[in-house]
Amino acid sequence: MTVQDKELVPGLAGIPAAESSISYIDGQAGILEYRGHRIETLAEKSNFEETCWLLLYGSLPTRAELDGFRKQLSGYRALSPVTVDVLGRLPKHGHPMAALQAGFALLGMESPDIDVHDRAQREDACLRLIAAAPTLVAAYARSRAGKAFVAPDPQLDTAANFLHMLNGEKPDELSAHVLDVCLLLHADHTMNASTFAARVVASTEADPYSVCAAASGALKGPLHGGANERVLQQLEVIGSAGAVPAWLDKVTAEKGKIMGFGHRVYKTKDPRAKKLQVLVREVREKLGSTPVYDTALALEDAVVAKLGGKGIHPNVDFFSGIVYEKLGIPTDFFTPIFAIARVSGWLAHWCEQMEDNKLFRPAQIFTGSHDAVYVEIDKRG
Ligand code: CMC
Repeated sequence: MTVQDKELVPGLAGIPAAESSISYIDGQAGILEYRGHRIETLAEKSNFEETCWLLLYGSLPTRAELDGFRKQLSGYRALSPVTVDVLGRLPKHGHPMAALQAGFALLGMESPDIDVHDRAQREDACLRLIAAAPTLVAAYARSRAGKAFVAPDPQLDTAANFLHMLNGEKPDELSAHVLDVCLLLHADHTMNASTFAARVVASTEADPYSVCAAASGALKGPLHGGANERVLQQLEVIGSAGAVPAWLDKVTAEKGKIMGFGHRVYKTKDPRAKKLQVLVREVREKLGSTPVYDTALALEDAVVAKLGGKGIHPNVDFFSGIVYEKLGIPTDFFTPIFAIARVSGWLAHWCEQMEDNKLFRPAQIFTGSHDAVYVEIDKRG
């Protein structure tokens, strides 16, 4: 049997692309685990930085290991003046995910060349990328807003530092905690499109900066991480809970997609969406009401009533934007926040890929023609 006789599986749905021990999903039961730990437990007891360690090294760190890891991250958060300058010169109307891709490339150009087969060098690169990603995003946000770059504060962790560098002031405890949990919930998610892109680029033995830049490109799309900013836009267009039924009838009649719903693997409510909904409630109680939340709840009820039978339920992107909006983050920076978190997962997959690498080079089923006749340009019709 040649490849021409094989059946194509669109989107490689259900086809394993790698063996991995990093995360696990049960899509029917709505379970997500990182290295065997349920995300609900991690969200309650752990934090983003400990979770990065867990993803990268496979088990929870000791206190000394975590302290050392945090110190190393702190040492790598700063950007060179050249990088800050270049980010400041990027077009202001472009998407921040494009700036992040450029930022990863810049970081790679300024970091030492590495031997991707050397574990210690890989670990060093992982730390550089996890530490600097939030600074790259915040630096572009500040420059776009016409504000001066704010250097990272060595006393603050990843989430608090990001808010500090974005807003120019130390965040309140609740905002820092909420963002920390959001980062933790977005850190890894098995063989999603951006992780697959990361592993494909990794398999060429490219450097990890290129891996993260490529994965960011995949994450940016509206069917993947780019859905979170579209969810907020969608809720704003709907306008109110009362307007949901008519809006939904129109979208479904036109066979449109409802952003923030549906998933290739989950056929029930995404466990990350459940936890994010709890965070939305916390944030609303402490920081005031969110008009879009009522619309979101009405939309969830209406979509599940109409499409729940097809396994269409809220995914991670449905509630995250409502949290970020309350934290005062501009809508087009929602996907970069997803990226800041997912860098840890991409890199854990990069390391796993490098431990047992085989170049990704799938086949295709050819549908074109053969023996085409070359017609001289003047004779073409
Ligand atoms: N709204 C309306 N219909 C939907 C939706 C949706 N959000 N999602 C799936 N469907 C329908 C789809 O129209 C199709 O119906 P039919 O069989 O009648 O043609 C059926 O469900 C299967 O859809 P599919 O798009 O072929 O399935 P998939 O496994 O490729 O879908 C998905 C996964 C995420 C691309 C899709 O659910 C979607 O486009 N959702 C909206 C975008 C979104 O929220 N993306 C974030 C995903 S979660 C975070 C992440 O991983 O980044």
